[in-house]
Amino acid sequence: MTSATYSLVNNETGEKTELPLITGTIGTPGADVGKVYDKLGIFTYDPGFTSTCSTKSSITYIDGDEGILLYRGYPVDQLAAHSSFIEVCYLVLHGELPKKAELEAFEGSIRRHTMINEGVKRFFDGFYHDAHPMAMLTGVTGALSAFYHDTTNNKDARHREIFAHRMIAKIPTIAAAAYKKYSGQPFMHPQNKLDYCSNLLHMMFAVPAEPYQVDPIAAKALDVLFILHADHEQNASTSTVRMAGSTGCNPYAAISSGIAALWGPLHGGANEAVLTMLDEIGDVKHVPDFMDKVKNKVEGVRLMGFGHRVYKNFDPRAKIIREQCHKVLKHLGKENDPKMELALKLEEIALNDDYFKERKLYPNVDFYSGIIYEALGIPVNMFTPMFAVARTVGWCAHWSEMTADKTTRIARPRQVYTGAATRDYVACDKR
Ligand code: ACO
Repeated sequence: MTSATYSLVNNETGEKTELPLITGTIGTPGADVGKVYDKLGIFTYDPGFTSTCSTKSSITYIDGDEGILLYRGYPVDQLAAHSSFIEVCYLVLHGELPKKAELEAFEGSIRRHTMINEGVKRFFDGFYHDAHPMAMLTGVTGALSAFYHDTTNNKDARHREIFAHRMIAKIPTIAAAAYKKYSGQPFMHPQNKLDYCSNLLHMMFAVPAEPYQVDPIAAKALDVLFILHADHEQNASTSTVRMAGSTGCNPYAAISSGIAALWGPLHGGANEAVLTMLDEIGDVKHVPDFMDKVKNKVEGVRLMGFGHRVYKNFDPRAKIIREQCHKVLKHLGKENDPKMELALKLEEIALNDDYFKERKLYPNVDFYSGIIYEALGIPVNMFTPMFAVARTVGWCAHWSEMTADKTTRIARPRQVYTGAATRDYVACDKR
């Protein structure tokens, strides 16, 4: 496969254009079509980027057929079993697992950047009381660009590092503040003595009136979920961050665009959509009816949390989350949770049904994450913000990789125009 050569031939003139093969360390190579327009005068057409690589990247590797996910070469199941989210953040950002002192310094830096400027806090006052937390997260993260514009030189490696530390440290504070705004409670300051996930849970669920003890099992479950969501190569939100970032814009603004892309129900919004779907189905006895609608493609009805553009065998993250899901439900005494029962019934039917088997549709990470979040008392509209908190490190790593790469050019796709051909303007009274 990797030694083969590819070319495009103009059938009229016989002119041939060689497509050099770009090979990585492992995985499918890419045919370089960058010169096709110059040589043949045609564009390549691939809506949805099904066959198109937008970049080379050394951060994350996915083999969708084998259900493999590696961060910097390390299998995600090993990281979920033995590492911590903060260590994974270091790995994703820097490319290697940290030595003890490196980890301590990194963790210390993240802890020191958790507070947000009082001016940033005041942005929340302007939102309507029932604004969706993802809308607030998008807006307030974008607003960070107004606070750090003069200390953010994209060309300076140290500035890029500080940006990543600030972003990873502040995103839980912003997400928790969005939740507090939504629920009408006072904001809670970060507690830097707490680990990353305990701090987030504390900022969300503590109130100033009484002490709040974070449940270590809940914090651990969140930590594992965050490891699984830390990066996923060129997904829609990461590609959005890269595309915005390729213009040289402020990186906080680029992250904000990624958060906006993540919100969609076909992407990070799926975890919220799964719970909405389970609520709508309501009871196990309604499952056959619901499945008929899915298979008959009734408009707007999909089995949310199933299917993936890349994973066509199983989603390795879903496997790990499924186990975590059972652990958390057991710990919280919610084993007979009706939503879990319903989810398992849907899973069982779908895995044995030809419609899903033929299309290689398997549960993805979001099928179970919503159930865990709900068991932890996290409200449905905070599910996608939790995903955003975890994915921030991936966005920062991709933005940094792209910005440090001197060969990066502005991302500017082409199109096949299907509108009206050239025509002359007609005065209004003559139309
Ligand atoms: N339920 C029912 N049918 C489905 C589903 C589903 N969840 N997903 C795909 N299909 C069907 C499609 O109707 C299509 O059928 P056809 O061949 O008869 O036309 C076929 O499977 C292929 O589907 P596409 O939409 O072409 O696949 P694509 O790769 O473009 O989409 C996506 C992937 C968006 C994830 C899709 O599977 C989906 O909508 N899933 C539900 C939403 C979801 O869970 N998203 C989370 C993704 S993971 C993440 O972002 C963290």
